[in-house]
Amino acid sequence: MSIGKEEFNLLRSYVLKHCGVQVGDQTTYLIESRLIQLAKENNCQDLNAFYLKAVADTSGELRDKILNAMTTNETSWFRDPKLWEAIEEDIAPRFIKKIQSGEVSTIRTWSTSCSTGQEVYSYQMLLDHILYTKDLTETISLSQFESLGTDISPKVLYFAIAGKYDRLAMARGLSPLYKEYFTEEKGNFTIDQKIRESVKFKKFNLQKDFSSLGKFDLIFCRNVTAYFSEAVKKNLFDRIAKALNPNGILIVGPTETPSDYCNFFTPNSNETPIYYQLK
Ligand SMILES: C[S@@+](CC[C@H](N)C(=O)[O-])C[C@H]1O[C@@H](n2cnc3c(N)ncnc32)[C@H](O)[C@@H]1O
Repeated sequence: MSIGKEEFNLLRSYVLKHCGVQVGDQTTYLIESRLIQLAKENNCQDLNAFYLKAVADTSGELRDKILNAMTTNETSWFRDPKLWEAIEEDIAPRFIKKIQSGEVSTIRTWSTSCSTGQEVYSYQMLLDHILYTKDLTETISLSQFESLGTDISPKVLYFAIAGKYDRLAMARGLSPLYKEYFTEEKGNFTIDQKIRESVKFKKFNLQKDFSSLGKFDLIFCRNVTAYFSEAVKKNLFDRIAKALNPNGILIVGPTETPSDYCNFFTPNSNETPIYYQLK
């Protein structure tokens, strides 16, 4: 099975509409390598038949399979160590002060494209560790840090919700200190129940209106916008600014630059910004 220009255009418009992922002109291989197998599994003779089947699918089942195939779910624990230093030394202490001063009773965080959960669980483990090491557990509870993890792909959310990881995933960025938050059974590592229960997960497409999710103090929108069209990116950063509380913080991936798209954020540094604060 191979892909013709017309099928390529049909499938890429489907992927853009349903995943917000823009497939460039030179990346026929991306559609070919990821969707041909799926087309065969769905008894389709060619990709045109596969496209028609996807459009006609009202159950959403085939759309989810396409989403799973077309999204890149690469992630790891404490990804980009400098970011986690900034969270530990700068961002978390600010949030703790806000709770201690009585200004707020909870801090809300959203990991917008959480993949298998490493990003949001790294954050909750770090907070838990800070509360213990600073002797704050008598006055502040981890449950005062409400976190939400969302992703468009049901497959990755299944793993995030289970909070179970294999040896390979455990070997990516987890120091011995944080390995203590897991229990092992036959090569599967399950995250501590307290950390697991401190996060809610939900399937969510970032292209959709997210005003119903409420306001957040911290939003992680990392390593997801690279595949979005310029229009989708601009619209997304505008809406993220509206979803942040005053002085809220946005954390993006190292190659993502919200200030190229809107004027709502101040980077924490002019050279290599690690986070962006709402103006
Ligand atoms: C490369 S992973 C990044 C995971 C994590 N944020 C990190 O930096 O380690 C990108 C994630 O974005 C998700 N994604 C892609 N398009 C999305 C959309 N429109 N809405 C929500 N999530 C999306 C993918 O399913 C994937 O799990």
